[in-house]
Amino acid sequence: MCGIVGYLGEKEASSVLLEGLKRLEYRGYDSAGMAVLNGKGVAKAKCMGKIAALKDVISSQPIHGHTGIGHTRWATHGKPCDENAHPHTDCKNRLALVHNGIIENYLEIKEKLLAAGHDFRTETDTEIIPHLIEVYYQGNLEDALINALEEIRGSYALAVIAEDEPQKIVAARMGSPLVIGIGKGEYYLASDIPAFLPFTQEALLVEDGEVVILTPEGVKLLDSQRKKIERASFRVLWDTTMAEKGGYKHFMLKEIHEQPDVVSETLAGRLKQTGISLEIDLPKFKRVFLTGAGTAYHAAMIGKYWFENLAKIPAEVELSSEFRYRNLLLSKETLVVAISQSGETADTLAAVREAKKQGAPVLALTNVMGSSISREASCLYTRAGIEIGVAATKTYVSQLTLLFLLALKSAQDRGTLSHLEFQTFLKELYRLPELVSLTLKKEQEVKHIAKLFSGRKDFLYLGRHVYYPIALEGALKLKEISYIHAEGYAAGEMKHGPIALVDETVSVVALALQSPVYEKTISNVEEVLARDASLILVTEETNKQASKYTNNLFLIPETHWLLSPILAVLPLQLLAYLIADKKGCDVDQPRNLAKSVTVE
Ligand code: AGP
Repeated sequence: MCGIVGYLGEKEASSVLLEGLKRLEYRGYDSAGMAVLNGKGVAKAKCMGKIAALKDVISSQPIHGHTGIGHTRWATHGKPCDENAHPHTDCKNRLALVHNGIIENYLEIKEKLLAAGHDFRTETDTEIIPHLIEVYYQGNLEDALINALEEIRGSYALAVIAEDEPQKIVAARMGSPLVIGIGKGEYYLASDIPAFLPFTQEALLVEDGEVVILTPEGVKLLDSQRKKIERASFRVLWDTTMAEKGGYKHFMLKEIHEQPDVVSETLAGRLKQTGISLEIDLPKFKRVFLTGAGTAYHAAMIGKYWFENLAKIPAEVELSSEFRYRNLLLSKETLVVAISQSGETADTLAAVREAKKQGAPVLALTNVMGSSISREASCLYTRAGIEIGVAATKTYVSQLTLLFLLALKSAQDRGTLSHLEFQTFLKELYRLPELVSLTLKKEQEVKHIAKLFSGRKDFLYLGRHVYYPIALEGALKLKEISYIHAEGYAAGEMKHGPIALVDETVSVVALALQSPVYEKTISNVEEVLARDASLILVTEETNKQASKYTNNLFLIPETHWLLSPILAVLPLQLLAYLIADKKGCDVDQPRNLAKSVTVE
């Protein structure tokens, strides 16, 4: 997730763009840049690091002009470095463009442009766009962009300027957010409202497929058929702090609701009608060993089931803090999958080093390009965008989505699934962003139940098979932000001790989803009800038996049972958030916790 900004008016563009980028820094900040039309052409400034670094560059080498675009980057293709920072230009440096999103077919377009003699300076997917516009440019920027967009597949919120049209910015949106700010004779564009809130509170939303042309005469909106359309602007009533949270009370809640888009980003370019294609080649392996800490460990645990059930590969999982004490006997035939959203967790970094010492190939699943772990292992990126809330939510769901893709790719390579099974999984993955969105729409039902349980002191989360790690994750979410004691258990373990805890003071959250373990989980539910526990049941909306056990139901849409853990965790994230918020806890920065544990 990156942030883009644009400005056209009477002010010094560079200062407006810097102010806007500062307010988008929560979207990513491994590098930043801007381009301004200075009367002589396109003047650029870009560098690695935070917006403050860009500010220093501008202070030492000012760029003057009244039309400009800017970008703050969260790298997805091409490591964070000055060259890869946006904006990117055409061969003659007469067009400059900034982009948030992923161009899925950039490699095939790049090959075509290289063959036509275009010279590329970066390894980014974005750089193909200004070169493609250059091919079509004959003096009208929007016509050239519209033609270029016909060839592009992927997600984008982009803005482009041209030396020959100094009082114009053209922008387009497909799958990534874009909003226009309307001032007095001046216009703004941004990935998010906070960027222009200090200058105007009048905003205009841009929808997918639309193209926007900003000139001193005003805003022109073209729909996906390139017909001019009218849309009313609206007044933003948030203050800037609220705006950075997108109007949500906490970053955690905003990040929970970003999950449909995050799942789409994680799938983009990897999920295809013909199967799964990953941007790196996997080594040959006969065993998988997954490791991580905290929430990442709970992702690893589910990954184990998926490798076993989809790819029929023996899989083992271990806490990264325990990994190096084990006598693991790894070999070059054991793929070690290290999961870490920050890529900086000391225990997981130590596990990566230990695995490499034993000659095992290591694949890291991380959210941060350029992180320590990403520099020591080959990587697949979760593309969840920056996660501000200490409690992992969207990064967890993106880890699960990426793990499922990895296991399904392994199954595809090994031919371990029938055509029908494989096609079913592809179909359900295409539905996944919508299913996540539908599940999150039930927040009101969760809110009602959270109110009933917010005063409770002891929680047991129960699940079997792929739902056992979700039980652990649900308990972790609750305890780490509300400070209420909560434990996750394998439901089959209840008889071996934990059921002694159960009485009318205990709340039980049971994951009883349509699966080979449903019946057995229901018998655990009956055992705790017989001992007067208060029950919350997570199950499908099609489960007509559910209300027999309790009225406290978190109902999720049906999907294949191996994929349903990704949906089942969502109401548990909301439950933890709503209870913690009702208790007045500091949800985004819980006591004693850090976002990334870089010490052992
Ligand atoms: C989860 O909500 C916590 N923030 C914590 O358990 C976290 O998952 C763990 O520290 C691992 O972090 P990582 O993914 O950055 O390695």
